Amino acid sequence: MRSAVLSLLPLLAVGAAAQAENLYTATATSDVYAAQATAKTLSNTSNVKGKAFDRFVVIWLENTDYDMAYGDENLNWLAKQGITLSGYHAVTHPSEPNYNDDFNQIAKNVSTIIDLLEDKGISWAEYQEDMPFSGFSGKAWVNQQNGKNDYVRKHNPAVIYNSAAGQVDRLASMKNLTMFQQDLQNDALPQWMFITPNMTSDAHDSDIQTAGAWTRNFLEPLLNDKKFMKNTLVLVTFDENETYSIQNRILGILLGDAVPAELVGTTDDHFYNHYSEIATVEANWDLHTLGRFDVGANVFQFVADKTGDRVRAWNDDVTELSQRYFNFSYAGAFNTDGGNRRYPAPDLCGAGKTHNRTVLPSIQEMWSGSSAPGYYTAELEIPDGLNPPSGYAPVQ
Ligand SMILES: *[C@@H]1O[C@H](CO)[C@@H](O)[C@H](O)[C@H]1NC(C)=O
Ligand SMILES: *[C@@H]1O[C@H](CO)[C@@H](O)[C@H](O)[C@H]1NC(C)=O
Ligand SMILES: *[C@@H]1O[C@H](CO)[C@@H](O)[C@H](O)[C@H]1NC(C)=O
Ligand SMILES: *[C@@H]1O[C@H](CO)[C@@H](O)[C@H](O)[C@H]1NC(C)=O
Ligand SMILES: *[C@@H]1O[C@H](CO)[C@@H](O)[C@H](O)[C@H]1NC(C)=O
Ligand SMILES: *[C@@H]1O[C@H](CO)[C@@H](O)[C@H](O)[C@H]1NC(C)=O
Repeated sequence: MRSAVLSLLPLLAVGAAAQAENLYTATATSDVYAAQATAKTLSNTSNVKGKAFDRFVVIWLENTDYDMAYGDENLNWLAKQGITLSGYHAVTHPSEPNYNDDFNQIAKNVSTIIDLLEDKGISWAEYQEDMPFSGFSGKAWVNQQNGKNDYVRKHNPAVIYNSAAGQVDRLASMKNLTMFQQDLQNDALPQWMFITPNMTSDAHDSDIQTAGAWTRNFLEPLLNDKKFMKNTLVLVTFDENETYSIQNRILGILLGDAVPAELVGTTDDHFYNHYSEIATVEANWDLHTLGRFDVGANVFQFVADKTGDRVRAWNDDVTELSQRYFNFSYAGAFNTDGGNRRYPAPDLCGAGKTHNRTVLPSIQEMWSGSSAPGYYTAELEIPDGLNPPSGYAPVQ
C-alpha cells in the first residue's frame, strides 16, 4: 500500500505542474483574497548586454487613432523626449484575432518571446495595473470599491498562452504595478517588461486624455530615475486604432536613455507593426526566433543600425500599403464559426530571411514534421483578413 502511494507521487507532481494554467482562474472575491495571501511572486534579474539597449519596456494603451494619440498634449510631450514612430501599424481588429471575449487559452506548443528570453538567461516580467496577485489567471477583477472594470485577462498577453501560464515560476513573474514600484525600489526590475495600465488608465473605458495623463505621470519620473534608466528603451504604443473603416495605424513612441541623443525629437517613418517589438528584441540580444511573423518584421531603425539588420520599405508591388487596412483577421484558433481552427505551424527553415537568426531549437523539435498549415514567410508584407496568406482556405 505504502509503496504504491509513494510511486504515485511523481506522477501527481507532474500532473499538478501541467495544470498550472488553471491554478488561479477563480474570480470569486474570497478565492482571490485567499490566493493573494499565498501565491508565489518572483523578481528575477539578470544583466545580459544588448547591442542597442540592456532593458526593454513596452506599455500598451488602447483603441486610439494615430492622430488623436499624437494630438494628446501629454503623449505629444513624451514624443518630444524620444523618437516618434509614424509608420507603426496594428495587426488586426479586434485586438485579439477572432476575439470573442471568451476565456481563451492558447495551446502549450505555441511558444512566445518568454521562451526566447529565458533561453538566453534574460529576465522578464509583466506588470498589470490592479491585477490582484501575481499569476492571477481569472477573466477579470473589478475595482472593489465601485465595481468598475479594472484588470482584464484579455489585456495580459502572457497569461493567455499556456506555454507561459502553465509554469508556476512564469505565473509568478506576471505581477501588478504595486510590485513594479517595489521591484524598482529594490533595484530588482528585469530586463524585459510588459506594462498594462488598468481599463481606465489605458483609454479603454475612458479617453485619450486620461491615458495620456496616466502615461506621462507614470513615465516622467522614471525618465530621470537611475534605477530605471540602465540603457533602457521604452516603447509606448496602442493595441489598435479605433476607427475600423480606416487603416489601422497607431502611434509608437521610443523613449529612454538607450535612445541616441541626436535622435531625440525626431520621427522614424518606416513600416513597423507589433511583430517589430519582438524582432527588435531578438536582434538586440541575438535571440532565436519564433518562426512566425517575427522573422520578417522590421527592427526599429536605430537598433538595426547597431545590429546589422536591414530596415525595408513596404513593397507596394505586393499590395499597396494604402490598401492594407489590417482591420479584420482570417479565421484561426479562436474562430467560433467552426473552420480553420488549427494552429498554423511555424516556418522552421526561414527561407528568404534577411538576418542570421534561427528558430528556437525547442520549437523546431515540437513542430518538425507537423502537417499543420504554414502561413509564415520572411516577408515584411504580412497578410490581413482581406488579403489572407497564400495557402489559406476559408473552410477546412
Ligand atoms: C499585488 O500583488 C502582490 C503579490 O501577489 C499582492 O501581495 C498585492 O496585494 C497586490 N496588490 C494589489 C494592490 O492588489
Ligand atoms: C485605475 O488606476 C488609477 C490609478 O492609476 C486609479 O485611480 C483608478 O481608480 C483605477 N481604476 C479602476 C477602475 O480601478
Ligand atoms: C528565473 O531565474 C532562474 C535562475 O536563473 C531561471 O532558471 C528561470 O528560468 C527564471 N525564471 C523566469 C520566470 O524568468
Ligand atoms: C476594413 O476597411 C475597409 C476599407 O475602409 C472596409 O471596406 C471594410 O468594411 C473594413 N472591414 C471591417 C471589418 O471593418
Ligand atoms: C550572416 O552570416 C554571414 C556568415 O557569417 C555573414 O557574412 C553575414 O554578414 C551575416 N548577415 C547578417 C545580416 O548578420
Ligand atoms: C499543438 O497543439 C494543438 C492543440 O492541442 C494540437 O492540435 C496540435 O496537433 C499540436 N501541434 C503539434 C505540432 O504538436
